[in-house]
Amino acid sequence: MKFFIDTANLEQIKEAQDMGILDGVTTNPSLMAKEGITGTNNILKHYVDICNLVDGDVSAEVIATDFEGMVKEGEALADLHDQIVVKLPMIKDGVKACKYFSDKGIKTNMTLVFSPGQALLAAKAGATYVSPFIGRLDDISTDGLNLIAEIRMIYDNYGFDTEILAASVRHTMHVIDCAKLGADVMTGPLSSITGLLNHPLTDIGLEKFLADYKKGN
Ligand code: E4P
Repeated sequence: MKFFIDTANLEQIKEAQDMGILDGVTTNPSLMAKEGITGTNNILKHYVDICNLVDGDVSAEVIATDFEGMVKEGEALADLHDQIVVKLPMIKDGVKACKYFSDKGIKTNMTLVFSPGQALLAAKAGATYVSPFIGRLDDISTDGLNLIAEIRMIYDNYGFDTEILAASVRHTMHVIDCAKLGADVMTGPLSSITGLLNHPLTDIGLEKFLADYKKGN
């Protein structure tokens, strides 16, 4: 399973990249605003800064909600850097724009996906990634992980190439459950990645090894 980090924070992206386990980055307008990145030029520059920090795909989201606007914005985003993936909302014009970019060989990420039917449309439109938001489904007492399982089954039934990018991952158990269910990618905060390191027996074992080494030296 690929690991993407879901943030626009350059320090956190660098920390994950330095661990050697990062495969890409996802951002959205809220994450950009959280870092205080506002204004089109600053936002575009920030995408380039992110691309220069990591080796993998970097999802950059369009703001337009009509086909023409999405095409214009998406083309400008794709021109920024060859690591950019155009992130499009799961609405009718978003599906149409996804097909447009797929046909041109530009990578896409269909975002705000909350149902198997939406994921089926994304795959039909040739999306590179589909982003089911599991945490936001859990927030409304609906099983987000079940959506990953349903999409996995549907995509495997027909051999769709679209990668399932489990999004709105909130914690380490989401990561592990997504891996068990066969999600191709997960995107979450840095804590959902570094949290995987933690085990008390590792800490106790290491302490003992170091103490025993010191005894003999
Ligand atoms: C996905 O690409 C989104 O940026 C993200 O995962 C949303 O997560 P949230 O529900 O924690 O805001």
